[in-house]
Amino acid sequence: MKKIAIATTLSFMLTSILVAQPNMQKNPEGMKKLAQMAGEKSPYYRTKKEAFPKDYFLVSQNLPFLVGVALFHPNSDELNLTKEQLSKLAEMKKTIVPVSAKNAKAVKSMELELAKAIVEEKKTPESQYELVDKIAKAKADMTKAHLKCINTVQNLLSDEQFKTLLKLATQKGKSKNNLVAKKSNPEAENLFKTKCASCHTMTKPTDMSNLVAPAIMGVMRHVKMSYPAKDKAVAFMKDYVLNPSESKAICMPKKIKKFGVMPSQKGVVSEAELDVILPWLYDNFPPKGFKGMGHGNGMKMR
Ligand code: HEC
Repeated sequence: MKKIAIATTLSFMLTSILVAQPNMQKNPEGMKKLAQMAGEKSPYYRTKKEAFPKDYFLVSQNLPFLVGVALFHPNSDELNLTKEQLSKLAEMKKTIVPVSAKNAKAVKSMELELAKAIVEEKKTPESQYELVDKIAKAKADMTKAHLKCINTVQNLLSDEQFKTLLKLATQKGKSKNNLVAKKSNPEAENLFKTKCASCHTMTKPTDMSNLVAPAIMGVMRHVKMSYPAKDKAVAFMKDYVLNPSESKAICMPKKIKKFGVMPSQKGVVSEAELDVILPWLYDNFPPKGFKGMGHGNGMKMR
């Protein structure tokens, strides 16, 4: 009983991690526009990447940027926003981003002007005080608007949702998101291990005598030779795994002679599972540098 409960909790946790999703995808066009507005980084900029417009708020590090978290955090679907809440937040983002970008651009250009005046033109510090005050005022105004924004989000969400939002705002969104990243995909790897690896080994075999099927790196090398494009390769494999036949096979005829045609995996693996496994296979196999088995074994490599 306990075991079942643990297993259920575990699998629930796993699914909830794997299906975690941002409420909205970042719009690449918008990102490009922002980058354009940000322009060149100052040569004195201290970290690798400038966060524009966030860097130009008076309080730039110690307050959360909640609208972004609510929309784009990789697990932001945990908020269970209603349609109305979601559209309000999206609307807020649409108005806030251009305004803060415009203000940030103005602050940045004043800061660059300040650097130039004091470093290159060797102006007196006193002559720059007025500019410093102007920068301070502009940045303070941005932070005041930011406070209003936090307040609006607070009022829009239920207490429960707001608690979740703060939790999201304090965790690095990356760790969980990596699980669904293209290359490393534990769900796909586990599915492959349970559904395919009993026949197709994932490592280069050292002893060929007890193999029941070609190793997956060799299989994928041949699949990609016949179907270089990912979508074609995936479509071919999807069909083959469910309806294999000697006439469709792209592997070397020797392999079929040795192992026989692969038994259909219909009923063993579902199409949905294949949609997870096959793109991952394509992305990861053969591993970089793999040039075929190169084991004599009566097989002539041309
Ligand atoms: C019962 C053993 C077995 C299982 C399980 C199995 N395969 Fe195979 N597979 C084979 C054999 C044997 C071959 C080589 C003969 C052939 O190509 O039909 C093969 C060949 C292949 C090929 C090359 C097809 C071609 O054109 O020659 C692909 C792709 C493939 N398997 C994918 C998979 C995937 C993905 C899974 C898991 C969903 C899987 N196999 C599960 C035995 C198996």
